[in-house]
Amino acid sequence: MNEFDVIVVGAGAAGLMCAARAGQRGRKVLVIDHARKPAEKIRISGGGRCNFTNIGTGPGNFLSENPHFAKSALARYTPADFIALVERYGIAWHEKTLGQLFCDGSARQIIDMLLDECTAGGVEVRLETAVSEIEHVGERFRLSVGGRAVIAHSLVLATGGKSIPKMGATGFAYDVAARFGIRVMEPRPGLVPFTLDPGLQAELKPLSGIGVPVEMTCSAGRFREAMLFTHRGLSGPAVLQTSSYWSPGEEVAVRIRPDIALAEVLTAAKRKNGRQGAAGVLANHLPKRLAQYFVEQAGLNGPLADVSDKALGRLAASVQDWRFKPAGTEGYRTAEVTLGGIDTAALSSRTMEARSLPGLYFIGECVDVTGWLGGYNFQWAWASGVAAGDAA
Ligand code: FDA
Repeated sequence: MNEFDVIVVGAGAAGLMCAARAGQRGRKVLVIDHARKPAEKIRISGGGRCNFTNIGTGPGNFLSENPHFAKSALARYTPADFIALVERYGIAWHEKTLGQLFCDGSARQIIDMLLDECTAGGVEVRLETAVSEIEHVGERFRLSVGGRAVIAHSLVLATGGKSIPKMGATGFAYDVAARFGIRVMEPRPGLVPFTLDPGLQAELKPLSGIGVPVEMTCSAGRFREAMLFTHRGLSGPAVLQTSSYWSPGEEVAVRIRPDIALAEVLTAAKRKNGRQGAAGVLANHLPKRLAQYFVEQAGLNGPLADVSDKALGRLAASVQDWRFKPAGTEGYRTAEVTLGGIDTAALSSRTMEARSLPGLYFIGECVDVTGWLGGYNFQWAWASGVAAGDAA
């Protein structure tokens, strides 16, 4: 009874998808998870509505040491394939913005759908169960599961990354990789708010709660989305996206209101009515408190007529070429994903199988493929899960 064709460790997005596919191919599949409930990250994702894919998904939306690795799996299981599955289950969805698809109802519908797919494949799911030992004996894997030996031809690691340890996230897949001599690219938190040094934090504290459209640039990352000042630092989609490209010590450039040329706006306003102040003009384009902050920083509280065009240019640059060095990030406590992970060079891009150990697979977030914010990470979980589920 304790012999299986496939054991999947991790009943999250990738693990359930993989198990369902393998089960529906007629494989005898066991899924093990140490959590009380399956797929808790799906449940809390997208504010409870699960941003389950992005219709614009392409390899360019992912970070990886090898940007080509994800191509094969993503091409073979596309957003359209997942949408077809969702529609087969009658789950209503909508596009929110930038190709991001969400459930109209609840993320729970996606979890139920995956569990139903597992049931259709005769998959056994054991929750609140720990794996304590893994050995490769002959051509099979022998695991100690809840104190009992379980054997399988294929072992799939789908335990995700280290983000949000409070929800049971662990570095288990990395440990298993290391145990079998497979390289792990340094894991680090991604899609995570920035923290600031105490001086800048105190200075920006009065702006807490303000959101503005920005273009944020750091290293190879450039994103036009919203930035949010918080009581802990900076957050919002632009910040989360940029954080995945950021390395400690690097500077981040911010163009607030990238859709307008503020220098021209200010000089035109001066010509039109020199008695008005810069803060009033900026406040037509920025939240009032933010406009006031930049004008005070520049010391330009008087009427525009008294301010040189050069000084107005400097004021505009302080808003549209604002640069800061994050002190750090909020870390795994709030990070939506974990960057790095199992070295893709060790895996087949078609099947996710380890090149050095046939029968061992790694899928989902534990692999060194990390998506942008916006449904890409789930699409990778589905696609890599299908790749392994069709092969294991
Ligand atoms: P996932 O983390 O889903 O599953 C891993 C499973 O393994 C868990 O069930 C865990 O309990 C189990 N596990 C871990 N260690 C174990 C061990 N030692 N033994 C046994 N079991 C173990 N992405 C997206 O595309 N759209 C979105 O809307 C969101 N929203 C979002 C919100 C928040 C708050 C977070 C934290 C993350 C997101 N994400 C997201 C990211 C997305 O949730 C993530 O990329 C996927 O869930 C990864 O799927 P995996 O199956 O790889 O891991």
